[in-house]
Amino acid sequence: MTHTEDPHPLEDGPFQDYRWPVLRAVPFGQHRAPAERSFLDVFESRRSARAMTSASLEALVAVLRLALVPRFWKDGDPLRRSRRPALSAGALHPISVLLFAGVAVYRVNAEESLLEELHVPPELRANWVSKCKQLLPAADGAFIVLIADRARPNAAYEYSASLVWRDAGALLQTLALAAESCGLGFCPLGILGSEVVDGLPGTNQLLAVGAAAIGLST
Ligand SMILES: Cc1cc2nc3c(=O)[nH]c(=O)nc-3n(C[C@H](O)[C@H](O)[C@H](O)COP(=O)(O)O)c2cc1C
Repeated sequence: MTHTEDPHPLEDGPFQDYRWPVLRAVPFGQHRAPAERSFLDVFESRRSARAMTSASLEALVAVLRLALVPRFWKDGDPLRRSRRPALSAGALHPISVLLFAGVAVYRVNAEESLLEELHVPPELRANWVSKCKQLLPAADGAFIVLIADRARPNAAYEYSASLVWRDAGALLQTLALAAESCGLGFCPLGILGSEVVDGLPGTNQLLAVGAAAIGLST
């Protein structure tokens, strides 16, 4: 019988964050909270949407910042532990959201409230979008890839891999609820996004852990 080892906390060790290939970084604009809806209404209304058109970049960022931006930081913590709407093992939040919208690829830098446009080969973007559209032919919105930087989980835990995968599930659910709360359609995709990681420079420490479509439901 095969099994996965339980994670085991380490003394927080040294680590090196992945350096994303950022072309330009733009601070998030004015925050617009979604219209008030009860939690129960959002919770009960969330369903995967498979037919959609493009939402504005502003509307997409509104969903992503609602889901991702830290609400609290652990004081003086070298591993930058934070509290956000999503669960995360050890409060590490190691997963970045990459957003394929229009002809650009962005990383949501939730820690610094920046939308970073990434330098990626155009064919990588086109191939990824076309792979997503093969799964959801009626989705003409934006596509998301979840990419974990394993540096901090590895510094904090022995056998950290399963924690990252469980974080990915928690994040997907949080993104889906945030999209519902902002009135956008959202659908997870069974593909991982490994080809996106393979197209970025020096990515040994990155792991693609999921994908989704997001846009205006039709
Ligand atoms: C990890 C994961 C992968 C999924 N992959 C796909 C997919 O490739 N295509 C799709 O149409 N739906 C996909 N879904 C959505 C599920 O089919 C959907 O959540 C399920 O049918 C329940 O419906 P609901 O989300 O509307 O409640 C995925 C969901 C998860 C959690």
